[in-house]
Amino acid sequence: MNTYFETLGRTVLERWQQQNFSLEVFPELTRIAMDENPPSENVDLEEMIHEFLSNDQQPLQGHSGFGQPELVAYTDPRFYIQILFWMEGTTDIHQHEFSGAFHVMQGSSVHSQFNFVNAKSVTPHLRVGDLKLKQIDLLETGRTVPITSGKACIHSLFHLDTPSVTVVVRTQHDPGTGPQYNYLPPHMAVDPIHADSLTMRRKQLLDVLENLDHPNYTSHVREMIDSLDFERGFHTLHHTMDRLMALGEWESVLEAFQNKHGELAKGVPATLAEYLRREYITQMRYQIENPEHRFFLALLMNVQNRKDIYSLISERYPDNSPTDMILSWAQELIDRADFGLTLLDAAFPESIEADLDTQFDLLMNGLYNALEGNTISEDQAEVHTSITNSCLSPLFS
Ligand SMILES: [Fe+2]
Repeated sequence: MNTYFETLGRTVLERWQQQNFSLEVFPELTRIAMDENPPSENVDLEEMIHEFLSNDQQPLQGHSGFGQPELVAYTDPRFYIQILFWMEGTTDIHQHEFSGAFHVMQGSSVHSQFNFVNAKSVTPHLRVGDLKLKQIDLLETGRTVPITSGKACIHSLFHLDTPSVTVVVRTQHDPGTGPQYNYLPPHMAVDPIHADSLTMRRKQLLDVLENLDHPNYTSHVREMIDSLDFERGFHTLHHTMDRLMALGEWESVLEAFQNKHGELAKGVPATLAEYLRREYITQMRYQIENPEHRFFLALLMNVQNRKDIYSLISERYPDNSPTDMILSWAQELIDRADFGLTLLDAAFPESIEADLDTQFDLLMNGLYNALEGNTISEDQAEVHTSITNSCLSPLFS
């Protein structure tokens, strides 16, 4: 067992016992304990890895799929300390059924915090409402952040470096604060643990039909959407969205869902569109290792408007103009696809005939004009539409 974490665990135990194991004090108590002797300054990562690999005397390890991986560094019946490695991980927007604090031991992350307002439970496992960004911070190595259980702490982390390593001192479980909702911005919250086995099997059966290019795929889905309740219908819609889009049937099935559920379904189209946009950025996150580019992706994923994106860029790069930073990142991120150039998911319009150098200039000019809000001439319209309808869209709102 690593002596640093053993000492940290004993300190937390002793202090918490003095507070009669009050849940209320635990987040701040653990934050203070870590800030007094920060893991980032007191733990040699290489030594810690060596000790964990070579010494059998380790706390009981769990089977958690959280972290890449999770190492348990200290356990007590009431709380434990975990070390989480993150290689490509971008956490979903989520809340917790535990409390404590986390510390950035290595790397840096963009930390976004949210409120879920106007919330309404449709079932105990699905809620609708409005997810609003409350705060976004750049967490550098050495930062410690308290975590409270339940809806008071809805957050996500976007790790900028590989690996990012966080230390979490956390309770085992805070009764009554579940479920640990995942949030699908801007309007849905779903319980990721809820096991609706019938829906799961139906989704798997639909995958079989998809793989077979079954001619009745759409009619089966359509029939399900017409008859299912909101929760099962939403999960079916979510699951079949890609396939229905490829078949050109998406709009009509989505409309059927909206007709059936009326007001309740109001936020569903925006939520599913945003889901696709975030999925694309997550996929790009796997391929992009440059921390500056990851920072740009983190902003596109988590910040909803240009003003806030610009102020975060200025915070991190105070000597540069945000527009110049974005243009330089875009220049580096432009990729050559089979059919022409793409900037992330903004493809150069196939209808315009241009060699690659001209495409490059038109894309960069298009981005500059969109960022500056310049008037768009008719011949620039298609490039402009491609850029503003892409995952770059928050830059223009
Ligand atoms: Fe979390």
